[in-house]
Amino acid sequence: MTVAETLAKAEQFLSSKRVSEAGANAEFILAHVLGCRRPELRARGARTLSPQEERHAWHLLHERGGRQPLAYVLGTQEFMGLELEVNPSVLIPRPETEELVQAVAALASRIPRGSSALQVLDIGTGSGCVSVALAHLLPEAQIVATDISAGALALAEKNARRHQLGRRIRFLQADLFSAAGGARRAWADIAVSNPPYIPSAEIARLEPEVLREPRLALDGGKDGLEAIRAIVAEAPADLKAGGWLALEIGHDQGPAVRQLLEKAGFKDIELRKDAQGIERIVLARR
Ligand SMILES: C[S@@+](CC[C@H](N)C(=O)[O-])C[C@H]1O[C@@H](n2cnc3c(N)ncnc32)[C@H](O)[C@@H]1O
Repeated sequence: MTVAETLAKAEQFLSSKRVSEAGANAEFILAHVLGCRRPELRARGARTLSPQEERHAWHLLHERGGRQPLAYVLGTQEFMGLELEVNPSVLIPRPETEELVQAVAALASRIPRGSSALQVLDIGTGSGCVSVALAHLLPEAQIVATDISAGALALAEKNARRHQLGRRIRFLQADLFSAAGGARRAWADIAVSNPPYIPSAEIARLEPEVLREPRLALDGGKDGLEAIRAIVAEAPADLKAGGWLALEIGHDQGPAVRQLLEKAGFKDIELRKDAQGIERIVLARR
């Protein structure tokens, strides 16, 4: 079968499985199998797939048809222009989180440090996307990245090594803050987190693809704020005086998070909207 024929059949198959953007998904999978870029497929339309290529393509198409997220099927996701490995032990990095990284990178220039390194804590690092992107953007940063999931940490370390950033990121298995700073206190210039923030009862209503992502990465407890509450309560112990906390939050959590931060004594609280106009990023100073 030719590339063009396979693409047509693959799109039809994925549509029958209710995969959204079936045509684009078919193209991504075929481009991956043929080792080319998506726009190059058209020029290769008349080429016949080898039996191995055909088997490989249909194996991946069946995974996607079973509503496995495309990033897990392909094994990679781009984040801030960096290709990261992903697998079902980590959340697939989202575009909103790129805005969190950009906000933190901009904060970094406002922190007076002299010649010492910028100390950053990334809580719940998952694939390592936030830490890897920050280490890439900020050559002066030293990062401690924590996660409770051993599977996530193993992949995050791999992603750091993939981009030669492993020497500036220390990965620690920890339940939120425990062990993050070791014996040190008030050591971090910035604490950043994209914590699990979806209310437990809403999880069942998510798309089948999202349900393939780790529940630990999604479930924020009854009101979605459990992890955020713990972070707001515990961050001041790790942050230097005047240090910043930067959080990604759920679409309707802005007012509640502002209140939590005010109660904990944070200053200069700023809620920022994402590209969709949703309050998504919170910055606050200890
Ligand atoms: C929403 S995901 C974010 C992952 C990654 N930082 C990103 O932005 O794509 C939340 C992460 O927090 C981790 N996590 C959940 N509960 C935790 C806890 N109690 N302590 C540390 N990490 C936790 C999960 O394993 C998951 O990797």
